[in-house]
Amino acid sequence: MVSLLDHLRRRLEREGMLSVADYMGEALTHPVGGYYMRGDPFGAPGPAGGDFITAPEISQMFGELIGVWCADSWLRLGQPAPCALVELGPGRGTLMADALRATRQVPGFHDALDIHLVEVSPALRERQRESLGAHEITWLDNAGQIPEGPLLLIANEFFDALPVRQFEQTAEGWAERVVVLGPDDALAFALAAPSAANRPLIPAALRDAPEGTLVEVCPAALNIAAFLGHRLARQPGAALIVDYGPASPAPGPTLQALRHHRHHEVLDAPGSADLTAHVDFASLAQAAASAGCLAHGPVPQGDFLGALGIELRAAQLAAAAPRAAEAIGAARKRLTDPAEMGGLFKTLALTSPGPPFDPGAPAGFEAPAPQSPPPLSPDSQDR
Ligand SMILES: C[S@@+](CC[C@H](N)C(=O)[O-])C[C@H]1O[C@@H](n2cnc3c(N)ncnc32)[C@H](O)[C@@H]1O
Repeated sequence: MVSLLDHLRRRLEREGMLSVADYMGEALTHPVGGYYMRGDPFGAPGPAGGDFITAPEISQMFGELIGVWCADSWLRLGQPAPCALVELGPGRGTLMADALRATRQVPGFHDALDIHLVEVSPALRERQRESLGAHEITWLDNAGQIPEGPLLLIANEFFDALPVRQFEQTAEGWAERVVVLGPDDALAFALAAPSAANRPLIPAALRDAPEGTLVEVCPAALNIAAFLGHRLARQPGAALIVDYGPASPAPGPTLQALRHHRHHEVLDAPGSADLTAHVDFASLAQAAASAGCLAHGPVPQGDFLGALGIELRAAQLAAAAPRAAEAIGAARKRLTDPAEMGGLFKTLALTSPGPPFDPGAPAGFEAPAPQSPPPLSPDSQDR
């Protein structure tokens, strides 16, 4: 079997260069050697540990509160049935399992839902099947397959895994950073010839940045945002995107490789490390809003979870399991503290225009934030 590295070398011999997005796409999702296709990368550091850990794996509170957000949006939308509940990039299925457990006592909610998971990895689909065994699930290959009709959509740390192109400002205009075959057939970065065709791809706020500035753009993310914007403009619904990145366009580079919780060289051993880049929330919101939906936020994750009642939920869980109180408090702090995940991670909501989200806003995006306790099922104390 041809290794991913050999496959990339052959492509480079034929094509001369690959965009960074081409490389990232192959390294993450190539059917044989792609990082996400090989197994379960999640977990804390340690000998048997994974490469990274995400918010739903840190605490059940995260998925529970996102479940509350979905149920609240569904109630505001007038309890449409059927209603697609879609998750993009569900990982182990933990967020969805926590969201469903926390909302099972919302009258009519689960009966109305058609659950769809957009997942590229067969190994992770299997993990999701284990996590969500009690529920009927349909798996989709891409967001374009989301069925017509009322829609609730969630995506946590999905957009940061989508391939980015990189451009550098030169004396002769924007030039694309590409991957080429270097000495000894090793993969290396190079700069393609500058072209005026690159300039419109750069966010307007950065187009006249000084020479040497590097900017990342994520065409796949913008396409999905435009697709959601178009859908939500015509059919009722709400989407919640949670990820890490700046609120307004910022220069990069932010593309990074992580392996066993450590930084790794991006071009070394493709397929062996997770590759992510910061999400440009302003460009996502603009792509979606240009297609006709409303964009709310972004709001820092800490503020969003605070508005949805994470303090109260942590207190409930700690009262039910006093010996775990310290761990529950630490998880709450990790998810909400601006110095930890609470500031860099942000939430962006996309909704259909008009009532109930205009005037008004989805839960967590209103100012001032609501103080009401979340309507969690009383029996959702533990996973
Ligand atoms: C960083 S993980 C996040 C997992 C989960 N949302 C969580 O918070 O734990 C990225 C997820 O997106 C999936 N994924 C990555 N690229 C994808 C693509 N192009 N299409 C569909 N799923 C993709 C991965 O397999 C994985 O399930």
